[in-house]
Amino acid sequence: MNRVFIKTYGCQMNERDSEAVAAMLRARGYRIVQDENACDVMLLNTCSVRDMAEQKAIGKAGYVAQRKKRTPRFILGILGCMAQNRGAQLLDALPDVDLIVGTQKFHQVPDHLDNLRAAQAAGAVLPTRIVDIAEEAGSQNTIKDHLLPQDEAGRAGTPLPADAAASGMAALPQVTAFVSIQQGCNMDCAFCIVPKTRGDERSRPMDEIVRECEELADRGVREITLLGQIVTSYGRRDYQHTGGVSPFVQLLERVNALPGIQRIRFTSPHPRGFKDDLVAAYGRLEKLCGYVHLPMQSGSDRILKLMNRPYSRERYKQIVDDLRRVRPDMYFSTDIIVGFPGETAEDFEQTRELFEACNYDMAYIFKYSVRSGTPAAAMGDQVPDEVKEERNQILLRLLEQNSDRRNATLLGTTQEVLVEGPDKKGVQFMGRTRGNRIVHFTAHERLIGELVPVKITRASTAVLYGELALAGVEQ
Ligand code: SAH
Ligand code: F3S
Repeated sequence: MNRVFIKTYGCQMNERDSEAVAAMLRARGYRIVQDENACDVMLLNTCSVRDMAEQKAIGKAGYVAQRKKRTPRFILGILGCMAQNRGAQLLDALPDVDLIVGTQKFHQVPDHLDNLRAAQAAGAVLPTRIVDIAEEAGSQNTIKDHLLPQDEAGRAGTPLPADAAASGMAALPQVTAFVSIQQGCNMDCAFCIVPKTRGDERSRPMDEIVRECEELADRGVREITLLGQIVTSYGRRDYQHTGGVSPFVQLLERVNALPGIQRIRFTSPHPRGFKDDLVAAYGRLEKLCGYVHLPMQSGSDRILKLMNRPYSRERYKQIVDDLRRVRPDMYFSTDIIVGFPGETAEDFEQTRELFEACNYDMAYIFKYSVRSGTPAAAMGDQVPDEVKEERNQILLRLLEQNSDRRNATLLGTTQEVLVEGPDKKGVQFMGRTRGNRIVHFTAHERLIGELVPVKITRASTAVLYGELALAGVEQ
């Protein structure tokens, strides 16, 4: 009765929250299983950023709830952003859900599950439900470590598929890890539900973050991704600038100084955070990967203003140029919303132009989705769906061209790749370049966690293929 299946929707923050819930449940004696048909508890960790993400989770929950007819003790929980956004009102649409837990209460999940199970065991007549979406006082302290799962020998590792575990293979070392540094956002972009679902900005103490990174390094992690809704605002209320250097850049400096760590990434930043100190950091912090996710949203000054985004297209382009000056081989990705209320053909043309000028390697292009309770939902002049779709396609085509162009420049070059582990098929190994491109190549298990040179021999839109360029390395 203690098998838990967790399904995660949405962003990397949600992935990381699910990992943290899994770690807490394991510590409480629950088993985390990969087969959704063989679980006693199912937890859906949800996303609210666009309507489609919410509809997917609601559909799934409605379908899964039918299981309760056959197995009354089956427990279904909804966690995260949609739980926070819709609260107890979710029970109108989904009366069979047992547990609703908001974004500041993930750490309560084990207690709530214990209580639900105890009520069931005591033969509660009425269904027991728990809804916990309150704000957590002092919740910067609940942005906790969630160190990696360990195998019995105490080595950090990725859990192996059941057959490999049964055959006695040790867990493979985990090479990359997410570390949460802040949560919430106070920017109030007119389209965005995140300030409502994730609450006010809270930062985790810098010493604690550095300690977690250190421990991860001791367990074999080589690449850290610092996570938060607006990481560039990290610590702005808790720490002073020192010598013109922001708390976020101070944190990057400290992680850069850890001997075991080889690479640092972060997401999501805000363009406003790219002041001179952060741009200069790319020149002096050698572990900081040359890949920046810089959400543009729109290239029209008029729309940026309506969106409440505090920069102009000119300023945005300036940041891209400054970063390319410091790191000529910098890779960029972005977020774009097409069809924001009132977006005219001329506004979109401005976006298209800036999109082309920035020459992105990757982009997440979204059709505007009305989020009730946000300022943009009340704006007139909503853009018809077909127009959104057309604009979406135009940017997708440009992105494809960029990607082909970039691939062509990579063919035949040798790239530094961090070996992460076997690829999904278990045939080859996979890793990433500093520019965050996935590479598949033939290697040996003992190279996991090493930075190796790989010569790129073939490229598809999403994946590069290559050969180890190590003289004398047995493959
Ligand atoms: N900084 C945040 C952004 C969260 S939302 C983070 O990564 O944690 C991620 C992206 O979704 C935004 O950058 C925006 O491009 C898109 N998005 C947000 N609200 C949207 C909406 N109402 N409709 C369409 N796209 C949206
Ligand atoms: Fe959302 Fe804007 Fe913050 S996109 S997460 S309100 S920076």
